[in-house]
Amino acid sequence: VRRLCYTRRVHFGSDNHTGASERVLNALATANSGHTHGYGDDDWTRRATAAITEVFEREVDVLYVATGTASNTLALACLVQPWESILCHSQAHILLDESTAPEHQTGGARPTGISGRDGKLTPAHLSAYFASTGADYPHNPRPGALSLAQSSELGLVYSPEELGALSELARSRGLAIHMDGARFANAVAASGRSPADLTWRAGVDVLSLGGTKNGCLAAEAIVCFRSGLAEQLGFRRKRAGHLLSKGRLFGAQFVGWLAEGHWLTLAAHANAQAARLAATLTARPDVRLAWPVQANELFAVLPSSLVASLRAAGAEFYDWYKDSLPSGLALGEGECFIRLVTSFATDDRDLEAFAAALGLAAPAALS
Ligand SMILES: Cc1ncc(COP(=O)(O)O)c(C=O)c1O
Repeated sequence: VRRLCYTRRVHFGSDNHTGASERVLNALATANSGHTHGYGDDDWTRRATAAITEVFEREVDVLYVATGTASNTLALACLVQPWESILCHSQAHILLDESTAPEHQTGGARPTGISGRDGKLTPAHLSAYFASTGADYPHNPRPGALSLAQSSELGLVYSPEELGALSELARSRGLAIHMDGARFANAVAASGRSPADLTWRAGVDVLSLGGTKNGCLAAEAIVCFRSGLAEQLGFRRKRAGHLLSKGRLFGAQFVGWLAEGHWLTLAAHANAQAARLAATLTARPDVRLAWPVQANELFAVLPSSLVASLRAAGAEFYDWYKDSLPSGLALGEGECFIRLVTSFATDDRDLEAFAAALGLAAPAALS
């Protein structure tokens, strides 16, 4: 048994290395029978939008796409002009991991990282940017939107108060507010605050609500709190080739995902496993966490020899961008910086195998 534990593959690479939750698959299986109209004109899509309306406690316009990149960049295209910039965290997905899709979809608007090595964006970053950057228009790019990730690029969670302060300042300078919610469920589950408090009540205009990392196969919803965006979003989605003819595929996934708080159950599990993983890792004196673990991602500095032995024991995780290390945390000689991600599918055996590979006792079982 012990040998099996050692050789078990342990997946902390990404929360999109998972399959889908059983409930989501069951919803898809149910939606499989019969004929429906296409392109979102079907009852599954209408039920999904009704469920999202209920979750956010207000009328919203919702369009569905299959990838987070499409969701983020189509949403941003509705908020900015081609000559504008999109202010974001220096590690933002739209800045580092979406190629030039933001520029492509927006017609040229430029994502601009303004946080340096700080974990979260604050009003001070915005003020410093406004104070130090040229406003000689049309020569300089004009800031058109603020894009925030919730949970954040470094696994942190913004409170409604933090979001409110950011959006108030941004709005006073004429910026629209976009939220990259690829891990929004993790933020809701972690904070215990309502989806409404974490979005439109805190000034968010459009949310890219991600299902894919947390139990769906491929389902992302662009949730518009500002009215009047849906029509152009519809044209943009079609033009970009992201309008699915079998719209029920998205509708069914969201119906299964949102029913009875399933999305939050899945996210709470991922968060709890991350907290346990963090407790296990930090039991070793040679491991340092770069940021507190607030959702389902861990960023840690470890001896390279330990990283190599963890990988040899079957653990999978990524080396992470060294320039995202907090300024107070220097990487020593022979150390690596890594990211570990838990998910709804991380089970106790994953943590046991990881603890064994670290030479530690397994954490107590979750349930
Ligand atoms: C913060 C963030 N936003 C968006 C995405 C979605 O990207 P994709 O286009 O790969 O679905 C990811 C996935 O890695 C992410 O981590």
